[in-house]
Amino acid sequence: MGEINLKVLILGINGFIGLHLFKTILERTDWDVYGLDISSDRIGQYKELPRLTFLQGDICKESEWIEEHIKKCDVVIPLVAIALPAVYISNPIRIFELDFEENMKIVKLCVKHKRRIIFPSTSEVYGMSTVSEFNEDDSNLVVGPICKQRWIYSCCKQLIDRVIWAYGKQENFQFTLFRPFNWVGPYLDDVNDSEDGKLRVVTQFISNILHNKPIKLVNGGKQNRCFTYIQDGIDCLMKIIENKNNLADQQIINIGNPDNKYSIEFIAEYIVKWVRRNRPEIKVPDIIYVSDKNYYGESYEDVFNRVPSIAKAANLLKWQPKTTIDELLDKTLEFYLK
Ligand code: UGA
Repeated sequence: MGEINLKVLILGINGFIGLHLFKTILERTDWDVYGLDISSDRIGQYKELPRLTFLQGDICKESEWIEEHIKKCDVVIPLVAIALPAVYISNPIRIFELDFEENMKIVKLCVKHKRRIIFPSTSEVYGMSTVSEFNEDDSNLVVGPICKQRWIYSCCKQLIDRVIWAYGKQENFQFTLFRPFNWVGPYLDDVNDSEDGKLRVVTQFISNILHNKPIKLVNGGKQNRCFTYIQDGIDCLMKIIENKNNLADQQIINIGNPDNKYSIEFIAEYIVKWVRRNRPEIKVPDIIYVSDKNYYGESYEDVFNRVPSIAKAANLLKWQPKTTIDELLDKTLEFYLK
């Protein structure tokens, strides 16, 4: 891997995906990395490495640095966004400003300077699509009415996808859109945050256990997600960055693990059993049922079935996820609870 010395710009390098991506680039390649993040608590330890140029700063304020580094780099990966369903509801304008407006500026700079972009779309764009497996080029994208504010994130990402796609077709812009499906692993969220509804489901349940608060199954917990281990996701992203024979150009690529399709109830029960077995001194809270209105408020709407087709990633990139649900949960629980 990494025969060609690439210069990679990662915006949001201290975040969940950014950090894992950076560590993998460091281990497997000789690429130079340029990174920006508002925080440095995790990336800080690498700051002195000659292969990393890091700026601690706000994407909304560092436009000069960003443009200069877009010009300098071969590939731009903008990972700065808020991706928490509770915030889609509590602060939808922030989602529009950060996830849409700020990211559109980056897209336009990449178009202007003819730089390749690898942009994170999301499983959320498929919304409540009724097909059993979501396919990048066939499935309808189905969202609820405007009063259901949950969909603002999905719509922001969808419009950016459509704009990037249009630049690709009209101006031969070089891009890949990737769609993570519930990536989970170490550093996903900060489990010290004790408020309900602030974290993604696996880390939310861990936080509830640490703070001895009931684990809440929204609407019965029968809805499924296809949980994908972060390193599997990163392995696919690495293949996209390498872009052998330019096969990832102008493609949308789902990155998920359809074999890890499990209900939220299953996840809650697995985590409780794991804690009883491995940390018997921790008092395990009850699992209770709550309605979505009660948990998130009126403007939430849930996705009951979310399964990716990963045929495209398999065919184009020869990628397959490897990590089973047991390994994924064990590794994540060990990181947070051991
Ligand atoms: C997530 C987020 O939008 C993003 O992180 C991302 O873009 C995308 O999906 C993805 O990772 O693919 P969602 O899967 O709904 O959305 O996020 P979670 O907050 O992890 O919730 C999963 C399910 O668990 C939902 O049905 C939710 O209602 C349920 N849940 C969540 C509970 O039953 N209890 C809780 O305490 C929290």
